[in-house]
Amino acid sequence: MRILVVGGGGREHALVWKMARSPLVTEIYCAPGNPGIARLASCVPVNANDIGSLVDFARQAAIDLTVVGPEAPLVAGIGDAFQEAGLPIFGPSRAAAQLEGSKAFAKELMLRAGIPTAHHATFMEAGAALAYLEAHPGPVVVKADGLAAGKGVVVAEDPAMARDAVKDMFSGRFGAAGARVVIEERLEGEEVSILALCDGETVLSLLPSQDHKRVGEGDTGPNTGGMGAYAPVPFYTPAIAGQVEEAILRPVLQAMAAAGHPYRGVLYAGLMLTREGPKVLEFNCRFGDPETQPLMLLLKSDLVELMLATVRSELAGTKVEWYPGAAAGVVLAAGGYPGPYRKGEPIAGLEEVPAGVEVFHAGTALVDGQVVTAGGRVLCVTARGKDLPAALEHAYCGVKVIRFAGRHYRRDIGHRALSAQ
Ligand code: AMP
Ligand code: GLY
Repeated sequence: MRILVVGGGGREHALVWKMARSPLVTEIYCAPGNPGIARLASCVPVNANDIGSLVDFARQAAIDLTVVGPEAPLVAGIGDAFQEAGLPIFGPSRAAAQLEGSKAFAKELMLRAGIPTAHHATFMEAGAALAYLEAHPGPVVVKADGLAAGKGVVVAEDPAMARDAVKDMFSGRFGAAGARVVIEERLEGEEVSILALCDGETVLSLLPSQDHKRVGEGDTGPNTGGMGAYAPVPFYTPAIAGQVEEAILRPVLQAMAAAGHPYRGVLYAGLMLTREGPKVLEFNCRFGDPETQPLMLLLKSDLVELMLATVRSELAGTKVEWYPGAAAGVVLAAGGYPGPYRKGEPIAGLEEVPAGVEVFHAGTALVDGQVVTAGGRVLCVTARGKDLPAALEHAYCGVKVIRFAGRHYRRDIGHRALSAQ
């Protein structure tokens, strides 16, 4: 099979790494890819959002399966464009991708289907939103409705911070994403990412993982795209997994099918395990980044087979096999991230990483044969071990040998699982 992966971050590097191990695969292309991916796949200089050129490429290169990493092309309708061209694609249609593309759409669907989530209200202008805050003095989270790369969310520490967030979002800083603002009740508990393959009818959950969204150790500072992840999550018990399938995943799939938008692809449910049970924080219409990096190291089954079963609506009866133990990924970020950061810093030590540690490239570029930083999240250093402490030890051994100016990372990836044990 000839595979095309759309995207060029750490998640796509991990997907390519796993697919390259499939006996079904003869050739992998990645658009646009990155210098790490280029060691495993042929990188194609086409932007992930240039849907027309991607369709043309897939036709010319006789691609058998296209796999989409990021949300933006999915929300823009890459799934529909490939379907119309008769090209198999792993990823939801534009209508189904609204689960991520519009928080208001997701909230309304959950309300209709009785899916547990935070109470919320949606606003089109600042005045009404500020009046709502006056009337609801409890802890809140303020969110820009559209896509804002994980940064359009403010978990307000106090009422003044909530008011500032509302004003900021309506000021146009997030462009169209901030035209509508959602204010929701702040949930308390442990956060878990559940990625599930969905073929329109059947849900097949992958192992639970946990991201580390805040930039600082001890979960402090502003939100980022994710500073590291591990899997599995010890406090996600089989009983909780059962509740999540019954009360969240299956009802979403049913509601999407009933609305005429059957969901095919991977559904990412960001959950809060509250005292009242699991509740949905958000849905994403794609694999998580960095959750995918440890998950791919743990996955024993052939990813390409699982994706084909998803695309062909044959997930019923399919089982997923995992390696025992745990895996963890530590993100190395550029100095300043998630604020403004420098690019072009040479990266040293990539060849010194111990065997068994995978360094997935996210924001890197190749300049005159030298790998340099080219994004906020630069690398995700990922390893598997017999348990989480072993996986973390391996990953941090890799972290230590990689150097670039301004590099920062969290030293406490996995801390919630370690303190729960
Ligand atoms: P989102 O992009 O909606 O997932 O929000 C990003 C992050 O903000 C989540 O991963 C949570 O850590 C936090 N967050 C979002 N909504 C809530 C909420 N209702 N209660 C508490 N934390 C939240
Ligand atoms: N790790 C968070 C996300 O992929 O949205």
